[in-house]
Amino acid sequence: MLKQIPVSKLRPGMYIHRIDAPWLDHPFWKKRFLLEKYTDLQTIRANDIETVWINTEKGLDVLPDQDESEQDSFWPAASIAQSHRRASREQEPAPSTLEAEYRHALELCEEAQTTIKDIFLDAREGLPIDPDDARSLVSHISQSVERNPSVLISLTRMRTADEYTYMHSVAVCALMAALARTLGLNEAEQREAATAGLLHDVGKMAIPIEILNKPGRLTDDEFRLIMTHPDAGYVMLMRGGLVPNVALDVCLHHHEKFDGSGYPHGLQGDGISLQARMGALCDVYDAVTSDRPYKKGWNPAEAIHRMAQWTGHFDPMLLRAFVRTVGLYPVGSLVLLQDGELAVVTEQHPHELLLPKVRLLEAPGNQTRKGRLIDLSTQRGHNRIRSFAPQPDWEAYGALGLWLPEGVERRNAGAATAQESPGPGTL
Ligand SMILES: [Fe+2]
Ligand SMILES: [Fe+2]
Repeated sequence: MLKQIPVSKLRPGMYIHRIDAPWLDHPFWKKRFLLEKYTDLQTIRANDIETVWINTEKGLDVLPDQDESEQDSFWPAASIAQSHRRASREQEPAPSTLEAEYRHALELCEEAQTTIKDIFLDAREGLPIDPDDARSLVSHISQSVERNPSVLISLTRMRTADEYTYMHSVAVCALMAALARTLGLNEAEQREAATAGLLHDVGKMAIPIEILNKPGRLTDDEFRLIMTHPDAGYVMLMRGGLVPNVALDVCLHHHEKFDGSGYPHGLQGDGISLQARMGALCDVYDAVTSDRPYKKGWNPAEAIHRMAQWTGHFDPMLLRAFVRTVGLYPVGSLVLLQDGELAVVTEQHPHELLLPKVRLLEAPGNQTRKGRLIDLSTQRGHNRIRSFAPQPDWEAYGALGLWLPEGVERRNAGAATAQESPGPGTL
C-alpha cells in the first residue's frame, strides 16, 4: 500500500516509493529504494523535503501512535540535520584514485539501471515521464564523466544480457555528457544533452520485444514498425509536459542522417539540431560496440575507424570532436602493438590520442611481460600501436573488463552474451 508520510516519520527499513520534491536537490538518483542506511535518512532530512511516499508492501510501515516527540528522541535533532545540510548540497566528493572512480561508477551503473527501468516501464504503462526522476541520475553521471569520461563509458560495455535493455541509455547519456563537454557547451547544456541521451530511445517501449530482439533479418513491416519509435518516444515525453525541448528533439531526430537519408523526417545538415546530430553519433557508437543476440559488437577502436569512413551519416565536425572525446583507441579497445603483442587500452593520454596506457594480454616470445601495464607515451616510439585487433572472445580471457585497474571486480564473460536480451537495439 502506498502512503504519503511526513519525513519525521521515516525510519530505516521503509521502502521509499517517491520523494516529494520538485526538481530534486538531493543526491539520490534512485526513484524507489529501500531506506537502509541511517546516513540516507539524514540526507533526506537535511534537504528540506517534507513528505515522501512509502510502499508498505515492500518495507516497514509507520509506527503506531508515533508522534513528533517520540521522533525527536529517536532520530537526530534538527540541529544535526542542519549541520549536514550544507555538505549534502555540495557536489559529491570526488573519488581520489582511478580504482575508486571505477568502483563508484560500477555502483552508479547498477543504480542507474533501476531508475531507467522505472522510467521506461512507466512510459510503457502510459504514465507521464517526470524529469525529476532523471535529474539526479543525470547529475551523477555527468559528474563522473567530468572527472574521467572513459571510466563510466567503458563500464557500460560490461553489460550482461539482463542488463542490456537499459545500459544503452546510460551509455548514450554518458557519451552525450562527454561530447557536450568537448564541444564547450555550458553546464546546463551538458546536462540537457545527457538527459536527452538517457531518454532518446524511450519510444522502443512501444515496440514488441520479439521484434526488437528478433535474431534474424527484419521484414519490411517489422522495420517500418521499429522506425516509429522516435515518434512514439516523442509522444511519451510530451505526455508529461515537463521534459526539456532538447530531449524531445533528440528523441524525435536521433535517427536523422547528415545527408538527409535518415528518418523520420529526412532532415539534412544544419536542419538537424546540434544535439540530435550528437545523439546520432553517440547512439550508433554504443550500438555497434555492443554485443547483440544476433551480432557481436565491434572493438571500440574498430567502431571509430569504421564510422569515420561512413560518408553522409554523421556531421564530420562532430565526429572529430567525438574522437577527441573517446580517443582513437577508446578504453577497452584491443590493439596490436608493433612488436606483435596484443594489449587492451586501459587509460587515455590527456593529449596524445595514439599513446594510451595499455595492459598486455598476449606477449609472444616473452610470457613474463603478460599482464604488464605499459604507458606508450613513455616508450619513445619503441613500441607503438600498429592497429586495432578484432573484437576478442572475452570468454577466452575468462573475464570482462580486463582494462579495469587491479582490485576492481571483473565480471564473468559468459554472462554478457549467453542469452537474448530485450531492449533498445541498433536501429
Ligand atoms: Fe533509436
Ligand atoms: Fe538508441
